Amino acid sequence: MTAINAVMDLTRDGEVAVLTLNSPPVNALSAPVRDGLALGIAAAEADPAVKAIVLICAGRTFIAGADITEFGKPAVKSASLFDVQTAMEQSKKPIIAAIHGTALGGGLEVALTCHYRIAAASAKCGLPEVKLGLLPGAGGTQRLPRLVGPEIALDLVTSGRHVGAKEALKMGVFDEVVADDQLLPGAMAMARKAIAEKWPLRLARDVNDKVDAARPNAAKLFADFRAKNAKLLRGFEAPEANIQCIEAAVNLPFDEGIKVERALFVPLMQGLQSRAQRYVFFAERMAAKVEGLPADAQLLPVKSVGIIGAGTMGGGIAMNFLNVGIPVTIVEMKEEALSRGIGVIRKNYENTAAKGKLTAADVETRMGLLKGSLDLADLGQADLIIEAVFENMDIKKELFAKLDGVAKPGAILASNTSYLNVDEIAAATKRPGSVVGMHFFSPANVMRLLEVVNGAKTEPAVLATAMGIGKKIGKIAVVSGVCHGFIGNRMLSFRQQQAQKLILEGALPSDVDRVLYDFGFPMGPFQMSDLAGLDIGWNAATSKGETIRDRMCEAGMRGQKNGKGFYNYDAERNRTPSPETEKIILDYAAERGINRRSIDDDEILERCLLPMVNEGAKILEEKMAQRASDIDIVWLNGYGWPVYRGGPMFWADHYGLAKIVERLKHYGITPAPLLEKLAASGQTFTGQ
Ligand code: 3HC
Repeated sequence: MTAINAVMDLTRDGEVAVLTLNSPPVNALSAPVRDGLALGIAAAEADPAVKAIVLICAGRTFIAGADITEFGKPAVKSASLFDVQTAMEQSKKPIIAAIHGTALGGGLEVALTCHYRIAAASAKCGLPEVKLGLLPGAGGTQRLPRLVGPEIALDLVTSGRHVGAKEALKMGVFDEVVADDQLLPGAMAMARKAIAEKWPLRLARDVNDKVDAARPNAAKLFADFRAKNAKLLRGFEAPEANIQCIEAAVNLPFDEGIKVERALFVPLMQGLQSRAQRYVFFAERMAAKVEGLPADAQLLPVKSVGIIGAGTMGGGIAMNFLNVGIPVTIVEMKEEALSRGIGVIRKNYENTAAKGKLTAADVETRMGLLKGSLDLADLGQADLIIEAVFENMDIKKELFAKLDGVAKPGAILASNTSYLNVDEIAAATKRPGSVVGMHFFSPANVMRLLEVVNGAKTEPAVLATAMGIGKKIGKIAVVSGVCHGFIGNRMLSFRQQQAQKLILEGALPSDVDRVLYDFGFPMGPFQMSDLAGLDIGWNAATSKGETIRDRMCEAGMRGQKNGKGFYNYDAERNRTPSPETEKIILDYAAERGINRRSIDDDEILERCLLPMVNEGAKILEEKMAQRASDIDIVWLNGYGWPVYRGGPMFWADHYGLAKIVERLKHYGITPAPLLEKLAASGQTFTGQ
């Protein structure tokens, strides 16, 4: 074995040179990796005894892409990826990529420059650059469509999805798939066959039949694709650039297409959207790290879960655990509510099965893990119990006191409260160390965010387990301290407050919604209220017409569910502005002597977003969030903040903190001390 450099070894086995790359954690294409590849290929080329080359990776995965940590930093002196790929394509000896784990981005692009590709059955591949606001900048947009055709290439580069080995084989990305433990032997056998049978040095750049065949109908193909995906890709810059590259692959010779790819790559890389999306990539991983907890903290076993409340929240929460094979006992007070709740869970699974995303057997397996009960005592053996009952402190305290008498010692007692004081709930038990908040977002089986609320007495192992189980069920878990509304809802309330003021002072609900939609949110606050139901938390008996919402509810408006709210809805849920609501707003403003004025879009945006940022600063100051990026992760995954704007704190940093201080004062809002301090010293929340 020869060490080529610190990350690359070369061994020779007969006529085959095996280049083994070992650069943990994910063999990303850092400068030493690029050097190792260039030097390794050159060494194998130079050895006359070598007739074929296998490129394989040690550790958990094949090359997972460019080294994202290098982006935006000055270039270091090393081989460029382009140099490496050119050397590979000019090799006189067949190079075989042996792929396990995930061959992603630049990793797949390196593999596409090899002559042949063999993969382990569990391997995946993909071009996920679009998720970082980029496009595959190492020839991926030109080589991939030549192998798989433009239709599949369009799907892969605009979705960034990971493709399993079997599918990749069918598409023509991989040439052979072998059992996981047969990767190296399989690659060696392929290399020997290539030598014995004198396989041609096949290069993806020279495979033209699929792009040639697509060319006559290409205009329609791309127009249809753009039209079909317009809504999904709204606001993002990178998908369109990716589409243009695939267009170039179909319409231009390879070398011309590469020029287009390069020309479109550079502005994306330098742009704010990609910076935001790269920041989010690391922010997501950072959120899992809890200050004061070792990364390998011992987790408590969670082999069974109890859920109290079979309503929308409880049912959605239960599905998360059933999906990963953890048995759930769900408890309700009345038989009718219990069977309704279980029925909804079954219906949800059956709907998923009808879309072909689950088999009928999967549905039964999941439902087989679910047990309904009317008796709290049935939760006596559960490792984790999550309460999802009505949002009322007295009810929760009574319930936790009862749970204390029922749950086994060491069980985690979690509350799904979205606002209430977890410490007060914990104090209702004799084991406050076992109590934690687990705030799911509706629909709980879909939304990725989980706020894990760390009570004053929550034990570290309990906190670590809540975070760990969140990851296991596919959530992005973020730690919050105990405060009213935690991170997300606490900030949201400031946006809602301003939205209400804006419609009194002169804007219409549709103006506010439009501005926030154009910013990139899936919907504005008034559409959201209509969707949630105007009567949530409204009490007819105590309503005195003190708010616009009271008056709307008193007039029988309930939002989407009865077609009347801030908008009117037809049977297909198409919305039109509601003159009745407008009248309620105008009357209300007149009664209060408010002189309505014209309010422009900039003011709407600033008044909705800046108070949120201000509250985010207070949350940081009070240490309710561990770091600014955790706040961003909450807003990205729980409230539809557009990922290409990085989250409220990242956005604020780029809007300018000094400007935000000035604008807040202009609107009569006192800036948070931390915000003022950072602005005065030219610092930022996120360091970005
Ligand atoms: N560059 C630098 N660091 C990376 C990285 C990359 N491409 N990919 C992962 N890492 C780091 C992570 O930050 C993490 O670091 P940490 O332990 O310090 O937090 C560590 O590797 C492990 O990553 P994960 O926690 O994500 O591990 P998983 O096993 O859950 O996932 C993965 C592995 C599927 C490879 C996932 O990390 C991933 O999707 N990575 C990004 C892949 C990607 O986007 N590649 C394209 C890059 S852009 C490109 O190639 C441009 C080219 O076209 C020129």
